[in-house]
Amino acid sequence: MKKVKVALLGIGTVGGGVWEILHTNREEILKNCGYEIEVEKILVKDVTKKRNTDIPQHLFTSNIEDILNNKEIEMVVEVMGGIEPAKEYILRSIKEGKHIVTANKALLANHGEEIMKTAREEGVKVYYEASVGGGIPIIHAMKESLGGNKIQEVKGILNGTTNYILTKMTQEKVDFPTVLKEAQDKGYAEADPTADVEGFDAAHKLTILSSLAFGISTKFHEVHREGISKITPIDIEYAKELGYVIKLLAIGKEKEGVIELRVHPTFVPKYHPLASVNDSFNAVFVKGNAVGELMFYGRGAGDLPTGSAVVGDMMAILKAQGNVAVEVLDNYSVEKIVKPISET
Ligand code: NDP
Ligand code: HSE
Repeated sequence: MKKVKVALLGIGTVGGGVWEILHTNREEILKNCGYEIEVEKILVKDVTKKRNTDIPQHLFTSNIEDILNNKEIEMVVEVMGGIEPAKEYILRSIKEGKHIVTANKALLANHGEEIMKTAREEGVKVYYEASVGGGIPIIHAMKESLGGNKIQEVKGILNGTTNYILTKMTQEKVDFPTVLKEAQDKGYAEADPTADVEGFDAAHKLTILSSLAFGISTKFHEVHREGISKITPIDIEYAKELGYVIKLLAIGKEKEGVIELRVHPTFVPKYHPLASVNDSFNAVFVKGNAVGELMFYGRGAGDLPTGSAVVGDMMAILKAQGNVAVEVLDNYSVEKIVKPISET
């Protein structure tokens, strides 16, 4: 068994989920990546804040130098959000030779190229599965499993907060401010929920997805964006009468060498699979010239689903650097016995 020390930048909704998974699923993580992951430091804004956790106080710091100067920390997990100082901390961590896992789509959509270039130069890995679709493994699918396809289209519901709001407005006729407050309380919304409501968050995610799908360096400001703040209960009623539901869709399409990228509220026919994607769930349709049409579905926001993607990235980096494939197979448990169907 090997041990690796990591630092978390932030312990809010996502960081809290990561902490919980690292502790609850310690055994599975060890078996599946061959490493025991130890959180050595946690960066927060306010070390004196009362926190409803069992995290030992000595792990908290508000000084990034405690992490950057600690040579034992091999990986930095950025779950603090925002552009600065997250960007500076990530770039400095890379220069210190530390691998990065981040959930920060706003940062990647605006400065992804610079971060990736620096990581390549320094020979470290930057993984970002949690940045799109919460717990849905869409980044891995786009980079690895679908790598042999020419992607023609990628579209879907990429924001949990707005999908939660639209679902509640459709099913329960609650008003916008009440349901937004609910989404915030559940930990789905961004620090500034305008990012969700006005479609910025979905556009950030479409920027990341489309650069993987179409192999282009997409700029966030090139995505046409319109949010849901102008949707009224009357719009929802009209849509219903006509056989539609309103969803905030993110759409990326390539046609004859031209790429179209847009985020806006859309009338989706009731029979369409996207119409029944409700609450904070996300769904992504991908069309590839070899695989055909695929749909990915799952929880797009929240502590544990997003934490699952972050922890998966941490393990993927460890597996890649540790060459532990054989060890992992050797570690499979023989204690669990599969019951024959006749006995169940
Ligand atoms: P939260 O606001 O819940 O938590 C942020 C954490 O970062 C807090 O612990 C906070 O410290 C710390 N932090 C923020 N700014 C600083 C700073 N300048 N210096 C030191 N620490 C800081 O955010 P979330 O967990 O919701 O989101 C984190 C990231 O994950 C964002 O990039 C978000 O877009 C992304 N994301 C979020 C999802 C979700 O469902 N919430 C899903 C997918 C991605 P303190 O505790 O002291 O306030
Ligand atoms: N605020 C985001 C959402 C979090 O609601 O989808 C997940 O990226």
